Amino acid sequence: MYISDTIKYIGVNDRKIDLFEGQYAVPNGMAYNSYVIMDEKVAVFDTVDRNFSHEWLDNLQKTLAGRRPDYLIVSHMEPDHSANIAAFANLFPDAKIVASLKAFAMMQNFFGTDFQDRRVVVGEGDTLSLGARELSFHTAPMVHWPEVIMTYDSKDKVLFSADAFGKFGALDADEDWACEARRYYFGIVGKYGAQVQAVLKKLAGADVKTICPLHGPVLAENLDYYLRLYGIWSSYGIETEGILIAYTSVYGNTKKAVDLLADKLKEKGCPKVSVTDLARDDMAEAVEDAFRYGKVVLATTTYNADIFPFMRTFIDHLKERNFSNRTVALIENGSWAPQAAKVMKELLSTCKNIKFTDTTVHIKSALGEESKNQIMSLADELCQEYEAQRADTANKNDLKALFNIGYGLYVVTSNDGVKDNGLIVNTVSQLTSSPNRVAVAINKDNYSHHVIRQTGIMNVNCLSTEAPFSVFQNYGFRSGRSVDKFEGVAELRSDNGLRFLPQYINSFMSLKVEQYIDMGTHGLFICSVTEARVISKAETMTYTYYQNNVKPKPEADGKKGFVCKVCGYVYEGDELPEDFVCPLCKHGAADFEPLK
Ligand code: FEO
Repeated sequence: MYISDTIKYIGVNDRKIDLFEGQYAVPNGMAYNSYVIMDEKVAVFDTVDRNFSHEWLDNLQKTLAGRRPDYLIVSHMEPDHSANIAAFANLFPDAKIVASLKAFAMMQNFFGTDFQDRRVVVGEGDTLSLGARELSFHTAPMVHWPEVIMTYDSKDKVLFSADAFGKFGALDADEDWACEARRYYFGIVGKYGAQVQAVLKKLAGADVKTICPLHGPVLAENLDYYLRLYGIWSSYGIETEGILIAYTSVYGNTKKAVDLLADKLKEKGCPKVSVTDLARDDMAEAVEDAFRYGKVVLATTTYNADIFPFMRTFIDHLKERNFSNRTVALIENGSWAPQAAKVMKELLSTCKNIKFTDTTVHIKSALGEESKNQIMSLADELCQEYEAQRADTANKNDLKALFNIGYGLYVVTSNDGVKDNGLIVNTVSQLTSSPNRVAVAINKDNYSHHVIRQTGIMNVNCLSTEAPFSVFQNYGFRSGRSVDKFEGVAELRSDNGLRFLPQYINSFMSLKVEQYIDMGTHGLFICSVTEARVISKAETMTYTYYQNNVKPKPEADGKKGFVCKVCGYVYEGDELPEDFVCPLCKHGAADFEPLK
């Protein structure tokens, strides 16, 4: 394998190994990489597993061609790389051992010596000249052990990356890099995403042309690809759009549910459905997929008042590795006292940013009508975005999309010459900044529209998240023509003479109407800004925040009906008339949803 004229590969392939690190199946073996830099001084990077001492020493001596090494650089002390340090030291008594202080402490434990008389301790940023090149050392704690160092050769722009960027598989295995690198990454260092991120930050400034890891191939092309994947993996991001279904099944009934769900997900356009039987398939592959895809379905039986052991083990693996940022759906099976869903949810409760689906599937022994319907609902929920993305399955007239425009909520104040008035709107938008122009749309049925048409001025009060529901009831659900909305409200006025709110706002703007556009039901006022004050640092109240946190939740209490999404008014009845208008906030039938 060619790396450069002076950097040579002297590693070995292990085709005899069954379980790497005593637990990971490696059907295509492993590579233990080792390198030599032949400069004015000769530096050897790491040794190999103890089963390959002679093969490695043969490779080394052949490459040395009669020269003697000056340094053994120890990147990592795990025995798959460090087993031959003592043998090397005996064979080359003049060579110095270069490693981190923690690595020397480990050498003492492994070999009974920390090479006091011939050791070179290096830490972050230390350098070592080999003649034509200078090596710099960079600590990489917990990638994969605490003593790890990486080394950068600025002449050939090579990074000796220790375990990072490694993979399962011997070098002569013909297989995809990402598949076995991902399984290796999440198996070996998945827990230490933050530490990998720290190393990636250190590397961001370095000009790296080649990466020489301790396992897997030397990476010399398209390095951005590998760095991008490491960036996603170490930040627990979503690499591939798709769904993993991980299940256990005792008598095949849970499997039937899983198969039905998998078929439905595929029918609905899920780009990738990966199904794994946790009792029979490779657990490390299941772990890898859970971190690869954005959605995970866990299906298992209630067992000994808990969950089936393979599922518990799987969830333990996920938790150990900081499983986070995923959508999780649960399928439980139980013939009596089912509680698998509850147990799984509790187990995952410490994981960050896990969103459970609204639908949980409850199977009572075997699939029935009810559980089949739940599977259909779950498939709908999991595939909503895939169906909406596809031209042939999308609802292209779903006006609920408009609710996702990031509206704020505002109280617009005005004065008819006698009385102050206030109105809730969500239709304020800054159009330009030079000059500042702000657009405000107001329903023509509102008294404020009539007043502002005549006076040409208004104040826009930006409500903060501190505003309670009573603010919306006061300014939003009744007309200023018939009530005094400022009764009992402390009087504060801006330079244009209009009121601004003494509470619950983070800023206000005084506006002068420059242009009016008739929009049919609404009038659009395009205004200049005559005054603007920031009152507090509180967050702006958005429509979404109002919906989720301020508006009282309607209680169905067995009633059939529809609730106004704007103000919470409940219309009781089986059908909502198409021309129905909310008596409180004057929004139409489109803003109602069925009571749940
Ligand atoms: Fe390849 Fe952490 O040893």
